[in-house]
Amino acid sequence: EKGGFPHFMLKEIFEEPEVLRNALAGRIKNGRANLPEMENVVPAIKRARNVHIVACGTSFHAGLVLKRFLEDYAGLTVEIDVASEFRYRNIHIDENTIVIAVSQSGETADTLEGVRRVKVKGGTVIAVTNVVGSTLARESDVVVYLNAGPEIGVAATKTYVSQLAVLFIIGAYISHLRNEKDEIRQIINELEGMPTIFEGTLSTMNESILQLAKEYYQYRHFMYIGRGYGYPTALEGALKLKEISYIHASAYQAGELKHGPIALLDREFPVFAIVPDDALKAKVLSNIMETRARDAKVVAICTEGDQETGRIVNSRIEVPRVSDPLYPLVMSPYLQLFAYHIAVLRGNDPDKPRNLAKSVTVE
Ligand code: M6R
Repeated sequence: EKGGFPHFMLKEIFEEPEVLRNALAGRIKNGRANLPEMENVVPAIKRARNVHIVACGTSFHAGLVLKRFLEDYAGLTVEIDVASEFRYRNIHIDENTIVIAVSQSGETADTLEGVRRVKVKGGTVIAVTNVVGSTLARESDVVVYLNAGPEIGVAATKTYVSQLAVLFIIGAYISHLRNEKDEIRQIINELEGMPTIFEGTLSTMNESILQLAKEYYQYRHFMYIGRGYGYPTALEGALKLKEISYIHASAYQAGELKHGPIALLDREFPVFAIVPDDALKAKVLSNIMETRARDAKVVAICTEGDQETGRIVNSRIEVPRVSDPLYPLVMSPYLQLFAYHIAVLRGNDPDKPRNLAKSVTVE
C-alpha cells in the first residue's frame, strides 16, 4: 500500500505532481480562476470590509501565503490568526466580514469553533478542506475542496501543496472580483505549469537532499529564516523538521534576528535560509552574513543559478525561477524531503511522530 516507498510520507511527497493537477483541474478557464462553488458568496466578497483567515498548524502557514497574496493582488488588508487564538478574540464580525477557514481534515476543533462564532455574528465562511462531508464543509457557506485524496502521514505534505494551489486560485478569484491586476494572469499561467515542474525535479532533488541531510542530521538545533513570502516557508520548514525529527527548530522573520534570536547562533546551531529571488533577497543575504559572523553553518534554498547566494552559504538547494507568490509552493517539497531524510537518518518513523495525532478534534 506504500507503493514501493519505505514510508507514506515519502509516497505522499511523490504524489504532489498529481495532487497539484487534481487541485487545479477545471479551476482555470481562459487564464482566469474558475470556481463555480464560490458563486453564492460573490456579493459578500464584493462588499467585504474585513477578511480574516483562520487555521492551525500547516494550514495556518498556507493561510499566511494567501494573506500576502490578497494584500498584493486584491488590495485587501487581511487578518490572520491561529484558530485557538481567533476563537477567543473580541474582534468585530458582521455581515461585511468574510472568513476563510483552512483545514485539511475539516475536523479541527478550534477551527470549527472559530467558524461557529463567525456564523452566529452573520459573517460569511469560505471553507477550504480535503474531506468531503466533514464538519467544516457542512457548517460553512461554501466549500472549496482540495481533492488531494487521503493523507496517511501525520505530517501534512501533499495537502499543504494542494492547499497552496487552491488558495492561489481562491486568491485570484477574489482579486478578479475586487481589483484585477495584470500580474495575476502570469501567476495563473505559471501555476498551471507547476505539476510538470514538480514531476521533472522530485526524483533528482530527493537524491541530493538525502546527501544534504547526511551532513546535518546530527545537529540539535536549526533556525529557519525568511522574509515576505519566504517567512511562511520558514515556519513550515521548521514545523516539519521538529515534528518528525524532534530536532529543535524555530523560524523567524530574518529581520528579527538581531532583536534577540541571533544570540543563540554558533557553530552548533545551523541556519536554514529561505532565499527566493524577490525584492527582499538583498535583505535576506545581509541577514545571512550576520549569521555567518556567528560561525553558524547556512543551508539556503534559492533560485537556480543564484551565485550571489551560493557564494555566502555552505550548501544550497536550487528551485526554478517563478513569480514571487509561487516560491512557497515550488520550495515546499524540498523542505519536506529535508525533514523526512533527517528523521529517517535519526532512526525515527516519520509516519508516526510521537505525541501527535493526525487531526486535533479536541481543544
Ligand atoms: O486538519 P487541519 O488542517 O485543520 O490540521 C491542522 C494541523 O493540526 C495540521 O496542519 C498539523 O499542523 C500538521 N499535521 C503538521 O504537519
